[in-house]
Amino acid sequence: MSVDVARVGRVSVEYRELTFDDAVTVQRLSGEAFGMPDEPPPAPDPDKWPRPGMRLWGAFDGGQLAAVLYVRDYHSWYHGREVRTAGIAGVSVVAEARGRGLLSGLFDIALAAARADGHVISTLFPTAPGIYRRLGYELITGYDTVEIPTSSLASVRAPEGVSVRRATAADFDTVRELYDAWAAAQNGPLTRRGPSFPATAEDFIGAFTGVTLAEAGGRVVGYASWTRGQGYDSTATIKVGDLIAVTPDAARALWRMLGSFASVSGQIHVYTSGADIARLVLPGAPWHVVHTHDYMLSILDVPGALTAIGYPAVSARLPFSVTGAGIDGSWTLEVTDGDPKVTDGGDGGPTFTAHGLALLYAGAQSTGNLRLAGQLTGPTDHDPLWDALLGTGQPHIRDYF
Ligand SMILES: CC(C)(COP(=O)(O)OP(=O)(O)OC[C@H]1O[C@@H](n2cnc3c(N)ncnc32)[C@H](O)[C@@H]1OP(=O)(O)O)[C@@H](O)C(=O)NCCC(=O)NCCS
Repeated sequence: MSVDVARVGRVSVEYRELTFDDAVTVQRLSGEAFGMPDEPPPAPDPDKWPRPGMRLWGAFDGGQLAAVLYVRDYHSWYHGREVRTAGIAGVSVVAEARGRGLLSGLFDIALAAARADGHVISTLFPTAPGIYRRLGYELITGYDTVEIPTSSLASVRAPEGVSVRRATAADFDTVRELYDAWAAAQNGPLTRRGPSFPATAEDFIGAFTGVTLAEAGGRVVGYASWTRGQGYDSTATIKVGDLIAVTPDAARALWRMLGSFASVSGQIHVYTSGADIARLVLPGAPWHVVHTHDYMLSILDVPGALTAIGYPAVSARLPFSVTGAGIDGSWTLEVTDGDPKVTDGGDGGPTFTAHGLALLYAGAQSTGNLRLAGQLTGPTDHDPLWDALLGTGQPHIRDYF
């Protein structure tokens, strides 16, 4: 177990990984920060704590747990590759210990362990971005709840040659392939594999009221996972976890299926991000983002993150530096026919802030915009190359943690 001891103010603070002995205190602290359930939660079970793929870290002030965070073991898609991602969640500081800087030491020990585990980037959903910017995280997209009046979907025309049917557990692999194909073309979606996603086919299908498949020519070309919810009047809301289609007609068929609930459901809530291509077939339907969870990215390991992703089959040699958030350094990114290598030393290159590099990596901003925002300075001659290598692909996510 790693232990760090730091002096904050006049008291010593100990930072360490949490064990089952801390579980009840963690439960209370998390309940205070994020809300108490109506019923007291069940006592932590040593066989199920911590959850698979999760490590918990704490700050102890005078022997008392004063701050906690969880690190989830994820992979997410960036530039066509699966990138090891430390997902941070459950960050909370005991009310009376807030404002004393406990988070810096807690992130230091948790992220050092994440790097040692092989994570090259880290992401989180902040309750306020200002808490995490100074730790190197930057906003790259949001997890949106979009509200669409169900009646506006009822008029989507029936596409020819596409039928819909309810998925069963036997369709799990097909649904997964569709998600993978969509996710691999974006920057940011979780792979939904690995220790943090232990679901079986039955768990997945059983988590929704229905998973509806769109089929054309004997092939599955789209799916929507949806939860019906309560009631059958204008307040009733159907929640759509994914609506992923590989043809416009598949998207039409799925929207139309949802629109068929117009007589018993006032609105559809779609959980999505950015400019969702499934919307392209809905020129007339109102699309109101009613809630957003901001999503932030931080680069933990510059050479590791830049060599983990795919590049176009070109050759380029790009010296650069990075400043801030503990990832300062100078390197050269060499891409040979799409094959990346990062070596130490970046004389004569531009300088990214840690936030600037996170934004470019995610495809969230171009070098031109980074310069306007003061996140990229120095020689400009390689900017088009950086944009060609990293400016491809948009940030999108479909999971909240
Ligand atoms: C958010 C929380 C963890 C911050 O704890 P804290 O003890 O104030 O954190 P620290 O003292 O280590 O430092 C926090 C930094 O973030 C900033 N910060 C804290 N709360 C903030 C807020 N709501 N908005 C913007 N910035 C904030 C502080 O100003 C400080 O920055 P500084 O060092 O530049 O002054 C704590 O208030 C908390 O537990 N809140 C309830 C749960 C919560 O919101 N958790 C975050 C989940 S993503």
